[in-house]
Amino acid sequence: MDQENFRYEELARFIAALVDRGTLVPGTRAPSLRSISRDRKVSMATALQAYRLLEDRGVLQARPQSGFYVASRPPARKPPTTSRPPARATAVSVPAVVVKLLEHASDPNLVPLGCAIPDTNLLDAGRLDRLLARTARERGGVYNIYTGPQGDLRLRREIARRATRWGQALSPDDLVITVGCTEALVLALRAVTRPGDTVAIESPTYFGLLHALKALDLKALELPTDASEGIDLDPLQAALSQNRIAACLFASSFNNPLGCTMPDTKKLAVLDLLARHHVPLIEDDIYGDIYFGDERPRPFMALDRHGVTMYCSSFSKTVAPGYRIGWIAAGRHLPRVLDAKAALTLCGSVLPQAAFGEFLASGGYDSHLRRVRRVFAANIERMTRAIDRSFPAGTRVSCPAGGFVLWLELPQPVNTGVLFQAALDHGICFAPGEVFSASGRYANCLRISCGHSWDPWIERGVTRLGALAAEALMSNR
Ligand SMILES: Cc1ncc(COP(=O)(O)O)c(C=O)c1O
Repeated sequence: MDQENFRYEELARFIAALVDRGTLVPGTRAPSLRSISRDRKVSMATALQAYRLLEDRGVLQARPQSGFYVASRPPARKPPTTSRPPARATAVSVPAVVVKLLEHASDPNLVPLGCAIPDTNLLDAGRLDRLLARTARERGGVYNIYTGPQGDLRLRREIARRATRWGQALSPDDLVITVGCTEALVLALRAVTRPGDTVAIESPTYFGLLHALKALDLKALELPTDASEGIDLDPLQAALSQNRIAACLFASSFNNPLGCTMPDTKKLAVLDLLARHHVPLIEDDIYGDIYFGDERPRPFMALDRHGVTMYCSSFSKTVAPGYRIGWIAAGRHLPRVLDAKAALTLCGSVLPQAAFGEFLASGGYDSHLRRVRRVFAANIERMTRAIDRSFPAGTRVSCPAGGFVLWLELPQPVNTGVLFQAALDHGICFAPGEVFSASGRYANCLRISCGHSWDPWIERGVTRLGALAAEALMSNR
């Protein structure tokens, strides 16, 4: 009997490892009972027992008359609770740990769970680099010039052409090329706010955005945000009625760090509400192309009947953060954005824009995106399983349908700012929760990046981090 127990558990471990390593992909069929019993030299009864065990653990799913499939989601931890930030505007503080985090981002000795930067191997920007070299060689002189502040026409045309696929009717004239999404967001904020104004944001939100608000002397009104469907409408409505909100700034999809995406109906309701209150919406769609489902979520701008949206994005998360190519479609605020762009930088670097235009026009970006999406989806699955195995009971984990970050809410009392230092001492970097709030919240939360190719180093890193979190919890109790 013991021998039998041992055999089915061993087989279950073998199959689970194939899933963890991505050999068996979620949604695909697991090896049939017949083939696995033949290949692993176990009885059909033992194979069935192993598969039932994996079904109980959420690794496999039995489908009637069809056999066993790899489950599309790892065993569900509860999702993070909806945030409850103060319902008033606050001055933005950027914790000192943000600078540390950015410094550690490029340290190759640390397990890279900190900054949301994709692995360079995965970005596979070789073709782009070669196009840059060729463009420099053949037409370097032509591009060693100033352009108008809108940037390279061909690149704008390619970006506008892509956007029509998800319903954004843009012309190249609507677009301004920017230095990454960061400059697009700053230009949008400058166009519609004045120092001292209040901007409504998701909470938690991307720390770079908080940095921009602080630098522009803007206040933040953090809104309760659900880990799956984004901001709650009632608090937004209350905030708009009770405060003078100069702008809202929301992610179009896969918010960083929660991974939430509003369904279209909710996006439409937000747009109607903002139009009624004459408040512009700045949307950040930097993760939009990294969706795991069948369709790209539509940005607000594609649904906007009122013309309240300013759209910002870049190629930083999908192919080339170092090229610093982003863009903004500012709608009726275009003249102000152009003015600010010309005053701040005159125009962007011309040669990388020309190479990027060529890169998009010559095809291959879509197949690259398909590969990147598959890898990120598999990384999220594996990371979620590793977290499930190693983090303390009661840890809540987000379940994003795109992007490549996970948000964890640990049981109290844990301070992830303290855990951050302990993890660095063990050669592991992650992003502590406090950096994602304007008002010092989320000390028991953390963000893990899944942008690195999965390997034993990453797996050991997250397992160790889970053990450190468990130790911290025990010692604080
Ligand atoms: C949500 C979000 N917006 C904007 C940025 C900055 O983008 P870029 O590197 O294109 O300036 C990031 C980078 O991490 C991000 O996560």
